[in-house]
Amino acid sequence: MCGIVGILGRGPVAEQLVDSLKRLEYRGYDSAGVATLENGRIDRRRAEGKLKNLAARLAASPLPGRLGIGHTRWATHGKPTENNAHPHVTERVAVVHNGIIENFRELRHALEKEGAVFTTETDTEVVAHLVDSYLTKGLSPVEAVKAALPRLRGAFALAFIFQGHHDLMIGARKGSPLAVGYGDGEMYLGSDAIALASLTDTISYLDDGDWVVLNHAGGEVHDAEGAVVEREVIRSGASAFLVDKANYRHFMAKEIHEQPEVVGHTLARMVDMASERVALPVKLPFDFRDIRRVVITACGTASYAGFVARYWLERFARLPVELDVASEFRYREAPLGKSDLAIFVSQSGETADTLAALRYAKAQGAYTLAVVNVATSTIARESQVVLQTLAGPEIGVASTKAFTCQLMVLAALSIAAGRARDELSAEDEVRLVRNLVEVPRLMAAALACEPQIERLAREIAKSRDVLYLGRGTSYPLALEGALKLKEISYIHAEGYAAGELKHGPIALIDETTPVVVIAPFDPVFEKTVSNMQEVAARGGRIILITDAKGAAEATIESVATITMPDMVAFTPLVYAVPVQLLAYHTAVVMGTDVDQPRNLAKSVTVE
Ligand code: AGP
Repeated sequence: MCGIVGILGRGPVAEQLVDSLKRLEYRGYDSAGVATLENGRIDRRRAEGKLKNLAARLAASPLPGRLGIGHTRWATHGKPTENNAHPHVTERVAVVHNGIIENFRELRHALEKEGAVFTTETDTEVVAHLVDSYLTKGLSPVEAVKAALPRLRGAFALAFIFQGHHDLMIGARKGSPLAVGYGDGEMYLGSDAIALASLTDTISYLDDGDWVVLNHAGGEVHDAEGAVVEREVIRSGASAFLVDKANYRHFMAKEIHEQPEVVGHTLARMVDMASERVALPVKLPFDFRDIRRVVITACGTASYAGFVARYWLERFARLPVELDVASEFRYREAPLGKSDLAIFVSQSGETADTLAALRYAKAQGAYTLAVVNVATSTIARESQVVLQTLAGPEIGVASTKAFTCQLMVLAALSIAAGRARDELSAEDEVRLVRNLVEVPRLMAAALACEPQIERLAREIAKSRDVLYLGRGTSYPLALEGALKLKEISYIHAEGYAAGELKHGPIALIDETTPVVVIAPFDPVFEKTVSNMQEVAARGGRIILITDAKGAAEATIESVATITMPDMVAFTPLVYAVPVQLLAYHTAVVMGTDVDQPRNLAKSVTVE
């Protein structure tokens, strides 16, 4: 994940910027840079690799200035070179960016037509030139940023400084977090409280869509509509503790809200944004054309990610996929061989059953591929291929951001397999990658349903049993939704394939049983509507999670309809958000220990 810092100071800032960036090293990065303003002019130093290289660059060629911005970059668009390192500049603007600008290509073409000259492969440089183009039109820096922001599509956080403006720094947040820090005659911007901990513990977090104008006297926050708003100022207390809850009540809440950012970084690791093709970060030791069968095994939430992937691998790569939970797989003595690919999904990379299953598959001669969040974990070290999710540290016992990052990795892998087996054309691949590139922004949009879900949770909290129904890739998401609810609220919940309702579970339905139906408007939507009618006919209370078309077509009186943004493919990545939020807010109403639910461990390293 990238990291952003900005200091509007009273003394030299270059070294303070590097020190703040050091606190963001836990996010992972491959280059870094700072820019400051001195005598009205912007100047910068950047370096590939670790911050010590940037520090050496600054020691050799100091950067004066009491206003500056800094950045640690995880390459998304363009290689991790010094030239692609942030800050990106024109003569009049310097900007640092965390996230993805989806429409950078069309903006770049338009700006080049206006005479802009680009020198990097990054999406970020487009932001600098776009703001600059408004300065050329005579707008002030504040007006220029205000005009540019609505034209940027994606999930991102930004910080700007301007030539000739020593008492101005502007920040903007849309999908990736950004905090404002308050000092004594100084003001700061940072990706989180940790970045600011060496400068201040008095901070406020911007809401999605906010942008903030800072000067030495303070800051003025504007919402997406431009209205001046107040954001709560809190004492962060982040200081030494590396990972903090930010301004959330629980780690789980923070991790649900981090998903647009971390899924975006996982996406960027798996695809080449410029060519809009999948670009796996590692070379595979096999050719997908030689693979006859895929076996996916994991535990709990990770197994449901694998379950979703089965649909994608079969659909896009025409590969037969076998699924099993690791605790069963490890003892089944399943026949495996060198034409099998065994995929192991694990957040911790230490789950005993999954590790045992990996060792069994290796002994049988199958290829082994791990999707893990901890690159140094045992499962990672013992697998032939590792595709890492970039969720960052997941503290809440209930897995959320790791799950959606696993889905992102598996979606990209499914496309790569389909392409390698000539089941997908180059045009299919571009189309599907474009669908993936939209996901971080759509996840950020899905988070807007939180207030509605918070109200619904109060009803769910009164229930004894809750059913979750789904078809296709929404079926494993129904299983995940039931697991989320029961593991943190302790309310009994079951997930079913919607078509299974008539084969027994319908006996459970009465007016006290909420039924959560996960149903985007897809080819099987009508079938699910008739399942919902069966539920409604028995007094069951339905909570329908769908999109605008599904909400319009669903001809039953559901208790509540939670409307997701329109999507063409990969719906579980976005529909996971309301499912997670429903479990979270129900647990909050129940007063359980959300981050550390009873009887549970974050990593089950024993059988
Ligand atoms: C998820 O909410 C649970 N905490 C649990 O099911 C977890 O997914 C499972 O234990 C697997 O853990 P892993 O991903 O670290 O292997």
